[in-house]
Amino acid sequence: AADVEGDLVEILFTEAEIQDKLAEMAARIRADYEGEDLLLVGVLRGAVMVMADLSRALDRHLEMDWMAVSSYGSGTKSSGVVRILKDLDTDISGRNVLIVDEIIDTGLTLSWLVSNLSSRNPRSVRVATLLRKPEAGKVDLDVAYVGWDIPDEFVVGYGLDFAERYRNLRDVGTLAPHVYS
Ligand code: PRP
Ligand code: MG
Repeated sequence: AADVEGDLVEILFTEAEIQDKLAEMAARIRADYEGEDLLLVGVLRGAVMVMADLSRALDRHLEMDWMAVSSYGSGTKSSGVVRILKDLDTDISGRNVLIVDEIIDTGLTLSWLVSNLSSRNPRSVRVATLLRKPEAGKVDLDVAYVGWDIPDEFVVGYGLDFAERYRNLRDVGTLAPHVYS
């Protein structure tokens, strides 16, 4: 994948570092939900890689479901208005729901999702994310499991895209300016 990786100017987290971090997060999650039901809800499309690797690192009984959401108005997502493109196939009443995403930027998507899912009478709703940007601190959002807090940089790879590309990179990094100029 050298031609794809070559578009990165800096690698922030390697594949091995990401897998180690997910193993740490999985150990905490496994302890917190020991003997309890667990339903992972992945946020399409960025969370696909984290869901695949975190769910396997958990190495316990669990279920997986998916939601796709979109901010109104293209491009920026500053409005905080979210609409459901694909809802859960699962009735979460009485369930322990763990929402899984790969990055929290403004936090608007997940704060909306937490309140939406909380209204469906689940037993619990928590959030796990691999990456979190500083902006998320401005929103009222309790994140139970965070891999890394990162500066406000544009990052791609491991599910994160630029114009829908780079999601399939194994590492997370920053794009070289020549890619988008
Ligand atoms: C990205 C990312 C998070 C969300 C975070 O998804 O995957 O889900 O934005 O942004 P926020 O904290 O500012 O709300 P996006 O909506 O771009 O779609 P994608 O997952 O399909 O890439
Ligand atoms: Mg997303």
